[in-house]
Amino acid sequence: MGIKFKVLKESTETNARLGLLETPHGIVETPIFMPVGTKATVKTMTPEEVKALGAQIILSNTYHLYLRPGHKLIEEAGGLHEFMNWHGPILTDSGGFQVFSLGDLRKITEEGVEFRSHIDGSKHFISPEKSIEIQNSLGSDIMMAFDECTHYPATYEYAKESMKRTTRWAKRCKNFHKDWERQGLFGIIQGGMYKDLRRQSVQDIVSMDFSGYAIGGLSVGEPKELMYEMLEFTTPLLPKDKPRYLMGVGTPDYLFEAVINGIDMADCVLPTRIARNGTVITSRGKLTIRNAKYSRDFSKLDPECDCYTCKNYTRAYIRHLFNVNEILGPRLTTIHNLYFLIKLMENIRKAIKEDRLLEYREEFYKKYGYTD
Ligand code: GUN
Ligand code: ZN
Repeated sequence: MGIKFKVLKESTETNARLGLLETPHGIVETPIFMPVGTKATVKTMTPEEVKALGAQIILSNTYHLYLRPGHKLIEEAGGLHEFMNWHGPILTDSGGFQVFSLGDLRKITEEGVEFRSHIDGSKHFISPEKSIEIQNSLGSDIMMAFDECTHYPATYEYAKESMKRTTRWAKRCKNFHKDWERQGLFGIIQGGMYKDLRRQSVQDIVSMDFSGYAIGGLSVGEPKELMYEMLEFTTPLLPKDKPRYLMGVGTPDYLFEAVINGIDMADCVLPTRIARNGTVITSRGKLTIRNAKYSRDFSKLDPECDCYTCKNYTRAYIRHLFNVNEILGPRLTTIHNLYFLIKLMENIRKAIKEDRLLEYREEFYKKYGYTD
């Protein structure tokens, strides 16, 4: 059955759309936020708990699972769904981004990327074919093409070379992948902060006809205005009948902006990562739960939230858990932060349906305050 995408409704006031993404492990309502489970676990949570929060699809990482426990072991276990006991849709990133984050530990050639493991320094090589081979073993519903996430800032010449290489690699990924019924494959748009390169990248990648398209290389340290400008320029160039995925974005303001520009999917480690150091996203903005001012605050994390954490625990208790380094602390804040973003996307979908997305955004910001 492969990957199918259906647009149910287009917003009249923005470029937002409401859709259904069909995958071999279930249907996903879009726009959607995907929690990140880098090493085959959404940190601190069981898959049952992730599902209970309303998560419809999770993301995992080729690079990490290739290093540990190894993709062959996961294949032997029956694939990633079986191995980690998550039976809903899974998207795997190609390793492109992680390998390129290694800095001095990697060397790029036309053939692929040679790198040293961040764990033990051992030498490895990932090519576009190898990335697909690994993702085939993992058995994710949606695989990502092996790309180079161009750093910021990058010269025009470098961004162009890098974008062209990503295109050649995308072609190799596409040619290597065989079973499109079992797993879809998304192409990734690069091109740095240069509009003509972005346009060229869209043209070249879209002509190969992937199951969907991702915008990569954004939110890599550039000013927010520049990120919005590139997003606004690139998204409308993508075909309307395929899912559009903005990689590495997961703060409320970026999510609103993405959806308004016609993005259907996004992921980010941020909500779960900051949860583990005690930063909580609430309808009134972010708060740091370790702060002494919460020591006798017996209210819930977010007055408007009805997640498991907010239904049962107080700020004072959660602050105490963080203070004494109890692992329940990070669990409770992770539950809340993920729920917050999943609920936000649910509200966004509802607002698109009712043609009041801009009004909902206004309402949201009135309480949330600043944009971060
Ligand atoms: N995650 C965030 N940005 C990127 C990107 O540009 N490429 C890949 N593969 N993953 C990402
Ligand atoms: Zn909550």
